[in-house]
Amino acid sequence: MRAMDYRGPYRVRLKEKPMPRIEHPRDAVVRVTRSCICGSDLHLYHGMVPDTRVGMTFGHEFCGIVEELGDEVGNLKVGDHVMVPFNIACGQCHFCKQGLFGNCHEANPEATAAGGIFGYSHTTGGYDGGQAEYVRVPYADFGPTLIPDWMDPDDAVLLTDVVPTGYQAAEMGGIQKGDTVLVLGAGPVGLLAARSAWLFGAGRVIVLDHIDYRLEFARTYCPAEVYNFKELDDVVLFMKKTTDGLGVDVAIDAVGGDAKGNFLQTLFGTKLKLEAGNAIPVHWAINSVKKGGIVSIVGVYGPTGNMIPIGNVVNKGLTIRGNQAAVKRHMPKLIEHVKEGRINPKAIITHRVPLEDVADAYHIFSAKLDGCIKPVLVPHG
Ligand SMILES: NC(=O)c1ccc[n+]([C@@H]2O[C@H](COP(=O)([O-])OP(=O)(O)OC[C@H]3O[C@@H](n4cnc5c(N)ncnc54)[C@H](O)[C@@H]3O)[C@@H](O)[C@H]2O)c1
Ligand SMILES: [Zn+2]
Ligand SMILES: [Zn+2]
Repeated sequence: MRAMDYRGPYRVRLKEKPMPRIEHPRDAVVRVTRSCICGSDLHLYHGMVPDTRVGMTFGHEFCGIVEELGDEVGNLKVGDHVMVPFNIACGQCHFCKQGLFGNCHEANPEATAAGGIFGYSHTTGGYDGGQAEYVRVPYADFGPTLIPDWMDPDDAVLLTDVVPTGYQAAEMGGIQKGDTVLVLGAGPVGLLAARSAWLFGAGRVIVLDHIDYRLEFARTYCPAEVYNFKELDDVVLFMKKTTDGLGVDVAIDAVGGDAKGNFLQTLFGTKLKLEAGNAIPVHWAINSVKKGGIVSIVGVYGPTGNMIPIGNVVNKGLTIRGNQAAVKRHMPKLIEHVKEGRINPKAIITHRVPLEDVADAYHIFSAKLDGCIKPVLVPHG
């Protein structure tokens, strides 16, 4: 089968690889119908994630048709079209029992933080991902959800990662009715976080980025007030001024370690790798939120430490929450939101790319070229 192949930072290509097979009675093999490139894949592509091995297939946001099933998977049948959460979770361990499907202890027992993720380096278990024609899906009796008949596969594929992530970002913000919510990042995750903020009762939603075409999209899609941080003298001061000097109620980091916007953070975090990525979004979030406010972090940072203003967290009495989204937990609610038209995931898809052109798709998405918001890879199209 053909699959994406990682060769080193900024180098990916398509390669012929062995067909995945059933290795455990709870496995399925799925023929991929859609897979996306996520902002998280860019951390891998940029060489930011430890133990990303040459030869790995990325891709953790995908849906597909069940080709083969292990003996213990009783709830699916061959031919089912399923959406597969990006988390690999057993559904039974200490953490899964609490709904922490992003922290499953069985899928990635060597790690103390991250759970298992498809195609996301050996720090998240070393599983091959779905930017391929076929993929092995562990714990298939637990993870995959049937795509409802009425649902467009373009919507379905986004329910496996960016939609639940944006939604959980808003949920972790503990948004109260009328709250002002600041969302850092107008990528797919930030857009969905801002869109979801309204569903949790926000009264005002502000989106910050430095890419104008994304901000323009956010203005109508979320909808949100949008600002280009390059045009603001001081992001934190601006957020204070626009909230009567108090600060925003909730700040969401939907950027992560590949952030731009601060020379020292870029030098230490991105260039010298002395910290796990550029943490300026966390600074802006902590410093822009009001006293007693909540910071919700879904932007991904590496396992080593980051320079963040922890003293301000204590003195302001902030709550900080973060996690990998527990995709499976949000599925039923998100299916309803899509059905009722409250969330329109596929509107963010700007590029539909055959799997053969995976290298181009990475380049366009990474360099934010051609108005790219979300690229979808279509293996058989
Ligand atoms: N926690 C999870 O479960 C989960 C799931 C999916 C993605 N993520 C993470 O969410 C983040 C966003 O993903 P995405 O797919 O939207 O990626 P993306 O790269 O498309 O979007 C990130 C956006 O942030 C903007 N940005 C850069 N620096 C900024 C700054 N200082 N302030 C505000 N905006 C800034 C970029 O211009 C870009 O538009 C990534 O870190 C990704 O790894 C987390
Ligand atoms: Zn992702
Ligand atoms: Zn588990």
